[in-house]
Amino acid sequence: MAGNTIGKLFKLTTYGESHGKAIGGIIDGCPAGITLDFEAIQNELNRRKPGQSKIVTQRKEPDTVEYYSGIFEGVTTGTPIGFVIHNTNQKSKDYSHIKDVYRPSHADYTYEKKYGVRDYRGGGRSSARETASRVVAGAIAKQFLSKIEINAFTSSVGDIFIDKPYQDLDFSKTESNIIRCPDEATAEKMISKVEEIKKQGDTIGGTITCVIKNVPVGLGEPVFDKLHAELGKAMLSINAVKGFEYGSGFCGAKMKGSEHNDLFNEDGTTKTNLSGGIQGGISNGMDIYFRVAFKPVATVIQKQDALNSAGEIVEMQGKGRHDPCVVPRAVPIVEAMAALVIADYLLLDRVSRL
Ligand SMILES: Cc1cc2nc3c(=O)[nH]c(=O)nc-3n(C[C@H](O)[C@H](O)[C@H](O)COP(=O)(O)O)c2cc1C
Repeated sequence: MAGNTIGKLFKLTTYGESHGKAIGGIIDGCPAGITLDFEAIQNELNRRKPGQSKIVTQRKEPDTVEYYSGIFEGVTTGTPIGFVIHNTNQKSKDYSHIKDVYRPSHADYTYEKKYGVRDYRGGGRSSARETASRVVAGAIAKQFLSKIEINAFTSSVGDIFIDKPYQDLDFSKTESNIIRCPDEATAEKMISKVEEIKKQGDTIGGTITCVIKNVPVGLGEPVFDKLHAELGKAMLSINAVKGFEYGSGFCGAKMKGSEHNDLFNEDGTTKTNLSGGIQGGISNGMDIYFRVAFKPVATVIQKQDALNSAGEIVEMQGKGRHDPCVVPRAVPIVEAMAALVIADYLLLDRVSRL
């Protein structure tokens, strides 16, 4: 199975399945000399972990990381960083009902058809459990970014959304509520919505906005590895992501050039930033901001028609511990993937000219 590595210089390879013994990763290309803050890494994992609030899956995992290499006396050595997170709270019997049945809109059918064999327990490799490894690597990448700040937050749940520009938000409030929305009034409405959906045994989608500040001018490798292309790929690789837009995004398609152009100030900054901090695939020093759309996830605790391996349509009922809305847990995943891309592109930029 190819496709388990991201990055060109700062590279992450992940391994592991939801109900296997462990998940983990290898980070190759992390520069030597970073004094790691292990508490900050665990803190990021705690933001992603299941069981953290009443509106997420109740699987209980401590998500404790063990490092096997690449770190000496708390400092990165420049050699591959190998790490593992043991799975401790699998309930595989919850999944015996999908052994020969493919859940609609999950990855059961496509994995089985592609590989001919499928670890159905907890969704196997297609489970978002894998994203814990991304969060570890992203938290290490964040420690290499120095002044660059990455802040993601829940910007919508279903049809409830924050009705103000990100510049009017206080990102320090994102962690003050369980949905991770920095606007308190909107957060309360979002939480009620998820609770209502959960009671119905249903799921709901939403969006995450991410803002990256203090990015130097010059990151991005045209033409195929433009910065926004790589951010888009990183975000679209997250489970359940169905959309990515940066800057003015799809709204820009409704505007005129005279309205859309970001006029310069004399120092090269721009008066507006509909470009979303990237022009020609290269960062221009303004804030980079983008939105990621998450679908309502597939496993609903309701009866639905599904396909079985004998080619019959059968009725099935979702079981097990699932997320009614993945957006609050996905906020640290979006930040981690953004950190991995920016770290990689900071390193790549060092060889772009003499
Ligand atoms: C943080 C997070 C938690 C998730 N939890 C669940 C879940 O509890 N149940 C579920 O069916 N899908 C869940 N998903 C989504 C599935 O992993 C995903 O839909 C599946 O792998 C199919 O991939 P696709 O939706 O990208 O096509 C979660 C996704 C994320 C990001």
